[in-house]
Amino acid sequence: MKTIAAFQASFAAYLKENRFDKEPVNLYEPVNYIMDLGGKRIRPVLVLLAHSLFKDDHAPALPAALAVEIFHNFSLVHDDIMDEAPVRRGKATIHQKFGLPAGILSGDVMLIYAYQFLARSKPETVIPDLMKVFNEIAIEVCEGQQMDMDFEQDRDCNLSLYLQMIEGKTAALIGGSLELGAIVADAPESDLFHLRSFGRKLGVAFQLQDDFLDTYGDPEKFGKKPGGDILRNKKTFLVLKARELANAKQLAVLDHWMNGTIHDESAKIKAIMEVFEELQIREKTREAMIRFHTESMEHLGSIAVDSDRKNGLVELSELLFDRDF
Ligand code: IPE
Ligand code: IPE
Ligand code: MG
Ligand code: MG
Ligand code: MG
Repeated sequence: MKTIAAFQASFAAYLKENRFDKEPVNLYEPVNYIMDLGGKRIRPVLVLLAHSLFKDDHAPALPAALAVEIFHNFSLVHDDIMDEAPVRRGKATIHQKFGLPAGILSGDVMLIYAYQFLARSKPETVIPDLMKVFNEIAIEVCEGQQMDMDFEQDRDCNLSLYLQMIEGKTAALIGGSLELGAIVADAPESDLFHLRSFGRKLGVAFQLQDDFLDTYGDPEKFGKKPGGDILRNKKTFLVLKARELANAKQLAVLDHWMNGTIHDESAKIKAIMEVFEELQIREKTREAMIRFHTESMEHLGSIAVDSDRKNGLVELSELLFDRDF
């Protein structure tokens, strides 16, 4: 059984072999830029870990692993345009560095390459199932992203709609990465179900932590502009939980800062964080994460393979649970 570090190294080598050293340079330089910035690489490692529940040689799952990481990076490039985010992984975002047209087209070409890599999977008999799952995930991500954008303007958004939104924009790809790895390994349908469900719960907990770190993370480690979600009136778990618990005065504070144009960014972040503190939103976010983490572990327990084979997935989900980056 390989370690997470071994899978990361193997994936890094495969990525290097498949670098986009192509022309036109203005199309591929941004692609290499974002792919080389790294990130945690959790989705490709999830593909490899899921595959390794059933098979010892992980090499056949590498094309699918690369496909999901390219897809993920494509989604980040377009997400940063939509969120007008200036920084990602501690560096300028693509549209900021190379311009908006580069962000659009380099993102588009990445999406197409993701399919091309997926279609290189072996044996060829698994490709139709891989495509079906990948298409479903990609559609869900777009639907979740649209909900995320719509909610910026929506004062009536609630936690139930929020959960639907993050299931699409984030959890679908995390659950899907596991499912794709298991499909390459020709795993039985009941195990696919539990893996997908494990990943979706894990993905929800992952997005809760992403929301948390956007406000409370150390920008040096997290690599994004601090308070970005507050400034864009994103309906994060933090804001929606605060709205649910707020008294009339606290609600008025939230409404004041979350409506209209605000010029003093740091005053807005400070005022909203004060309400979060009064309502113990940090603790509430952590409690929700624990709930989803526990549910995810139940699904992992139901996968019908030797428990030793699950150690990597247990370890990765714990790492993600305590991440500060
Ligand atoms: C960021 O994903 C987008 C979300 C779904 C929250 P990651 O936190 O996995 O980003 P990288 O790839 O590690 O930078
Ligand atoms: C990202 O959600 C989801 C996708 C990229 C599909 P966020 O907008 O919260 O991600 P970050 O925080 O910019 O990484
Ligand atoms: Mg974003
Ligand atoms: Mg976004
Ligand atoms: Mg975020």
